[in-house]
Amino acid sequence: MDPIALSLAAADAATPPAALAVVIRILHIAAAATAAGAVVFKAVALQPSLRVLEDGQRAALRAAVIPRWRVVVFTAIALLLVTGLLTFVLYRIPEYRGTPHAGLYHGLFGLKLLLALAVFHPATMLVLSGPAGDRARARAPMWLSIMLAEFAAIIILGAVLRYLPQLTA
Ligand code: HEM
Repeated sequence: MDPIALSLAAADAATPPAALAVVIRILHIAAAATAAGAVVFKAVALQPSLRVLEDGQRAALRAAVIPRWRVVVFTAIALLLVTGLLTFVLYRIPEYRGTPHAGLYHGLFGLKLLLALAVFHPATMLVLSGPAGDRARARAPMWLSIMLAEFAAIIILGAVLRYLPQLTA
């Protein structure tokens, strides 16, 4: 058997069950859809609409929304980190070990992870209470545009990673 077929057979033997991969993938994509969908809604509809409110009304709305939304943001970040790392360590490292695409896969994965960390930073700042959160919220339109671009790049990278062997065949 040639070395690539051998390493693929070894990976098959060592890889945890596919059912677990499906559960992890559902959680990862659900968290990603929640996070990205919320940023689209905020950038396109909520943020521009805040202008119709008086200063006091805007502050009251933010005070009501932020504590509720903070729980969702922190849960989504934790889920994305845990499910993303589990997918990488349990499934992709064994699958790609010894294959010609391993280096490219690891490089693109690293880029996806860095972009995700770059999204988590403003996502966290925007839901902080106190002056640090207020400073971030004063620049919300800029942060939301940056986050939209980062989400687009992350989703493209996720899809490319999924089909990397076929794309590079
Ligand atoms: C803003 C945060 C994130 C978003 C929006 C996101 C989105 C996605 C999506 C949509 C997929 C599925 C792609 C597909 O199958 O077509 C995916 C896959 C994946 N993500 Fe994430 N993700 C995020 C954060 C992370 C983090 C933090 C990690 C690692 C710690 C990670 C690791 C992975 C891995 C390993 C895959 C599987 C790629 C493959 O099929 O080989 N992701 N991600």
